[in-house]
Amino acid sequence: MTSTPSSPQVRGPRRLLVTGGAGFIGSNFVHHWAKTYPQDRIVVLDALTYAGNRKSLADLEGSENFRFVEGNIGDRPLLDELLATEAINTVAHFAAESHVDRSILAPDAFIQTNIVGTFTLLEAFRHYWQQADFSELPPKKWAFLHISTDEVYGSLGDHDPAFAETTPYAPNSPYSASKAASDHLVRAYYHTYGIPILISHCSNNYGPYQFPEKLIPLTCINILMGKPIPVYGDGKHIRDWLYVRDHCRALDVLIHKGNRGQRYNIGGNNEVRNIELVHIICQLMDDLAVDLPTRPARDLITYVDDRLGHDRRYAINARKMSIHLGWNPSTGIEEGLRETVRWYLDHRDWWEPLLTGEYHQFYQKMYGVV
Ligand code: NAD
Ligand code: TYD
Repeated sequence: MTSTPSSPQVRGPRRLLVTGGAGFIGSNFVHHWAKTYPQDRIVVLDALTYAGNRKSLADLEGSENFRFVEGNIGDRPLLDELLATEAINTVAHFAAESHVDRSILAPDAFIQTNIVGTFTLLEAFRHYWQQADFSELPPKKWAFLHISTDEVYGSLGDHDPAFAETTPYAPNSPYSASKAASDHLVRAYYHTYGIPILISHCSNNYGPYQFPEKLIPLTCINILMGKPIPVYGDGKHIRDWLYVRDHCRALDVLIHKGNRGQRYNIGGNNEVRNIELVHIICQLMDDLAVDLPTRPARDLITYVDDRLGHDRRYAINARKMSIHLGWNPSTGIEEGLRETVRWYLDHRDWWEPLLTGEYHQFYQKMYGVV
C-alpha cells in the first residue's frame, strides 16, 4: 500500500526534525520522505557517533528543503533553537545507541543518549509545543514519533504468541532497558501534558546503509572479505526480519494517520532462525558475487560463545497497523535479502572505510581472533 495523506487535515508541507537521520533507519526514512514529499522541510540532527554517516545522505546535500545539523539530542539550547527557527511540527526520533552487544560491553552511553537524551528532547519539544499557536495547525499535523523496539517486550518461547501492543514490558539487555525507560517517558508526556506522541515498536530491520556490526551486514561483509561468520550459541535464535523500506512506509502512515498517545507494533512477518538466515545470505553471495575468497561461503560459518542474556525469540503481531491504518509489510525475506546483498556488493565504497578505527577495535574486543 502506498501511504498518501488521505484527509484534508494533513495536507500542506510538514516541517520535520529527524534525530539520528544519519544512521541506518533514519537515513532510509529521510530518503523515503524526501522522495515522497519533496515539498516538506527535513532537518536532520545527528551527533555522528561511530554509527552515523553523512555519506548515507550525500545525495540530499544541497537540496533546498534539506538541512543537516551535527549535534547531540542532549544539547538543550541547540534543540530549542532548531525547533523554533525551523518551526518544526513533526519530530521523528531515531537517535539512539542501538547495538545490544555494545550495551553489554559498555552501557553508559545507552543511559545517556537513550534515556537522558530522549528526556531532553521531550522537554525541549514540550516547551516549544506549549508556546505554539494550536489554532494554526490541525491536530495530526503535530507529531512526536518515538522509534522504539520489540526488544522492550523481552523474549518469547518457540510456541508463545507474538508480541502485541498490550504485552507487558520485560527488557533483558541494557539496550532494551534503556529503550523501555525512554518509552515510559514518552508515554507519560502524552498523559501528563498532552504531547502528541506516537510510539512504534519495530522488529529487526535490514537493508541498505546498516552499520557493519549487525548480523546481516556483518555476514555479507565477512563473506566478501573471506572472514569467519560468527554465529552465537546454537544459532537457533529467532528474529522477525523487517525490510527497512517497509518500515519507513509504516512510519509515514503513522505520522499521517496514527492516533496520538498510542503505540503501534511494526513487524516483517518473517520469523527466521539466525543460522537459516546466514545460510540464505551465503547462498545469495555464492550466486551473485564474483571472486569470493572462500566458496562456498557457508564454509566460513563459525559457532562462537553465546551473547550474555541472549533473547531467544522475537515475533511481532502487527495487526493493529494492518487493521487500523492499512499498512502491511510487502517484502519477503528472500527478496529483501537479495536486494540487501546486492546493495553491499555495489557499495563497497560505503562500508569499507567503516572497518577501520573505532569499529576495528570493537570487533577485536568482541570477536577476538574471529
Ligand atoms: P543506528 O545505530 O544505525 O543509528 C543511530 C543514529 O543516531 C546514528 O546516526 C548516530 O550518530 C545517532 N546518534 C546516536 N547518539 C546520538 C545523540 N546523542 N544525539 C544525536 N544523534 C545521535 O540505529 P538504527 O538501527 O538506525 O536505529 C534507529 C532507531 O530504531 C533506534 O532508536 C533503535 O533503537 C530503533 N530500532 C532499531 C532496530 C534495528 O533493527 N536497527 C530495531 C528496533 C528499533
Ligand atoms: P543483531 O543484528 O545484533 O540484532 P539484535 O540483537 O538487536 O536482535 O543480532 C541479530 C541476531 O543475530 C541475534 O540473535 C544475535 C545474532 N548474532 C550472531 O549470531 N552473530 C553476530 O555476530 C551478531 C552481531 C549477531
